[in-house]
Amino acid sequence: MSNAVAFDIYGTLIDTQAVLARLTDLIGDKAPAVSRSWRQKQLEYSFRRGLMHDYCDFSVCTRQALVFACREHAVAIGEEAIELAMQAYADLDAFADVPAGLEALHKQGMHLYAFSNGSRAAVQRLLERAGIGHYFTSVVSVEDVRSFKPDPAVYAHLVRSCGVPAAQLCLVSSNPFDVLGAAHAGLRSAWLRRDPTSQFDPWESQPDITLEGFGEVASRLSAVYRQPMA
Ligand code: LAC
Repeated sequence: MSNAVAFDIYGTLIDTQAVLARLTDLIGDKAPAVSRSWRQKQLEYSFRRGLMHDYCDFSVCTRQALVFACREHAVAIGEEAIELAMQAYADLDAFADVPAGLEALHKQGMHLYAFSNGSRAAVQRLLERAGIGHYFTSVVSVEDVRSFKPDPAVYAHLVRSCGVPAAQLCLVSSNPFDVLGAAHAGLRSAWLRRDPTSQFDPWESQPDITLEGFGEVASRLSAVYRQPMA
């Protein structure tokens, strides 16, 4: 049975930087602060809704987080501007290093999966638009279990969807909370450190490997599956 690898989407394969550019056009120089708060609040809302068993589409978390972030920074934003900012999430591109890395893994016979808090339809559209949709065996969305990362139930769903034992499945993510969630659920884990200043949480568990760029993925990932499980 081949090994499988699942990829987080936003910030891992898909570059969300363009959202900041759109926000700057819409609200001006407060955009960097609003954008930071927006992302943090988006994740916080997904964590809270997961804990409360109050699932909604991830785009609802995103939209409500934008409204909160604007209020927090005293930025007046109308419905039309909110729609335009939200639309930026649908128009994102892959990071430049992603197609070559996926191609190399594909050539190694690895089965590739996309795994996201986003809805299957939204993720599928993004991957197709970025020209990388054909690399994936399937898109696995948390929507099937109506919860969010890092609920263990969503990683269990990923394992079931991939049809391999958890020890043969590695999650690659730039989000430390996602890496920890996968490891906690018994998967292999790789942290993609896209930003050299970002820090990993000092928890008991650490990633099986840290990738300093996506270019390392094909040469370093196969070793992960040979390590004894912690
Ligand atoms: C995702 C977010 C967490 O794609 O990046 O699931």
